[in-house]
Amino acid sequence: MLVLEAAQAACSILLPYAIKKIMDAVALAQLHKVEVWNEAEPALWLFAGLNLGIVLFSRASGAMLVLLGPTLRLQVRRELFSYLQGHSQRYFLSHFAGSLANRISEVALGVANTIWTVLFDFWPLIITFSVSLILMMGVNLQLALTLALWIAVYVLISFFLALRCRRYAQKYAAARSLVSGKIVDSVTNIQNAKLFARREYEQRYLEDYLVQEVVIARRTFWFMERIRWFQFVSAMILMLGIIGYALKIWSENAMTVGEFAMSASLSLMLIEQARGLSRRFLEFFEYTGNINDGVSRIIQSHEIMDRVDAQPLVVTHATIQFQQIDFSYVNDRPVFQSLNITIRSGEKIGLVGFSGSGKSTLFNLLLRLFEPQSGTILIDQQNIQAVTQESLRNSITMIPQDPILFHRSLLENIRYGRLNATDDEVIAAAQKAHAHEFIVASEAGYQTLVGERGVKLSGGQRQRITLARAILKNTSILLLDEATSALDSVTEHHIQDSLAYLMRDKTVMVIAHRLSTLSHLDRILVFQQGEIVEDGSHNQLLQREGHYAKMWSMQAGGFLPQSEL
Ligand SMILES: Nc1ncnc2c1ncn2[C@@H]1O[C@H](COP(=O)(O)OP(=O)(O)O)[C@@H](O)[C@H]1O
Ligand SMILES: [Mg+2]
Repeated sequence: MLVLEAAQAACSILLPYAIKKIMDAVALAQLHKVEVWNEAEPALWLFAGLNLGIVLFSRASGAMLVLLGPTLRLQVRRELFSYLQGHSQRYFLSHFAGSLANRISEVALGVANTIWTVLFDFWPLIITFSVSLILMMGVNLQLALTLALWIAVYVLISFFLALRCRRYAQKYAAARSLVSGKIVDSVTNIQNAKLFARREYEQRYLEDYLVQEVVIARRTFWFMERIRWFQFVSAMILMLGIIGYALKIWSENAMTVGEFAMSASLSLMLIEQARGLSRRFLEFFEYTGNINDGVSRIIQSHEIMDRVDAQPLVVTHATIQFQQIDFSYVNDRPVFQSLNITIRSGEKIGLVGFSGSGKSTLFNLLLRLFEPQSGTILIDQQNIQAVTQESLRNSITMIPQDPILFHRSLLENIRYGRLNATDDEVIAAAQKAHAHEFIVASEAGYQTLVGERGVKLSGGQRQRITLARAILKNTSILLLDEATSALDSVTEHHIQDSLAYLMRDKTVMVIAHRLSTLSHLDRILVFQQGEIVEDGSHNQLLQREGHYAKMWSMQAGGFLPQSEL
């Protein structure tokens, strides 16, 4: 493309040269009274050839753009997305999904636009400037040098003005994204706005940001307008000056009429091109700014990485050991200190404790979504930090507290547990999870789309979908984080069978608010502020008359109260 664009630029800028030849021939034919066609023939061929060249070279370059342009964007998006996926849970908790997606698109667009600006604007201009200056030098050295000097100064000033304008443009972009952020927040909270009848309040709230954007926009555009004044006036002065100057040289008989025509049209072309340059600079800085912004946000080193020598996890007995675990999400606020837990093969463990005592965190650590500051976690004597994250998470099924679904069909959502499951297997799993009934009753059955994050389903329906998914995944380690909390007691009662089936022969950890659902498990660990204060079977713990016994007697209708009374 570099070659094609250079060739095209050269052809365009050689056109005035062909015009000069034609005009000189015309003048000569007039002088010698000969047939103008004969005299001008070589020049006409040159003229035709150059025009044909422009068409062929530019269209060949256009064809390459068609081939390469979309691929370039694909490549940038694919690589950024793949890199983004490697980030830790912590990273995603502190970045907005919408803004990350936006950044990927913007970087992809920015990379393409930067390359195209260089290739289609800056590069041909360099060719145009050099070729035309060489042509002009052949005619009149002084004229050429004047033009060269003007262009150099003009380009430099445009460059620096564009640099200064970049700051305005950045502020303007920030104001725009602030406004869209506010709109997104308002729309996300539309339920609040409705429930509290705050429609007008929300409009007024947005108004401030809208007005602010207008002020900044005016300031930016005003600065650009000043740049344009500089461009237009200096271009005008030069055009008048060059024509006058060339006329003067011609009148002193220092150049032919053809040379005059060529220098005049070359100068006009150059000035025209240079005038567009500062806008190009502005755009160029905007694109590179976007790239810089997006890349620095996304390309940070991954917090949790596979070791170079990481081996796949091999689960044989599904024993789990937490050894001397120290962990905190934020400095100075430890969740666990020297925590030790050993879980034997096939054991079913219940975790109880008030909310915020660290139960879900334990699951996060076992799945290596977060890493402990010190201590080791072993699965079948293999350190989970030494195995691949992929194999680790393939070996553990976790049903989260608040399941989120893809905006894809119910079938796809369930099949996510095992991608090669047949339709029949998916349906069988849904039946075990007591999801089949409501699925077939919904408008499109298994093909029903569930809305963003699964909002079109009730909490209990979502839980049953994730349960079906877990049944398909069928790993020998199973983690349930209040997996049945959103179910009514009748449905939960039905599901107990399926849960018992799911838990068979597996090592299981269950977090539940309803203590009755834990009473039949092998062992119950009672958490209090990240410490295990009691450990034993339901009956043992009741006999101890400690925390568990107190909770058991406190629970109303089978539910654990939110905090200690
Ligand atoms: N991503 C996080 N960043 C910072 N603190 C967190 C995060 N997740 C949980 N916490 C804090 O860690 C503590 C334990 O939380 P969690 O394990 O979710 O409790 P539980 O599941 O027992 O209700 C709480 O104090 C909670 O506020
Ligand atoms: Mg929790």
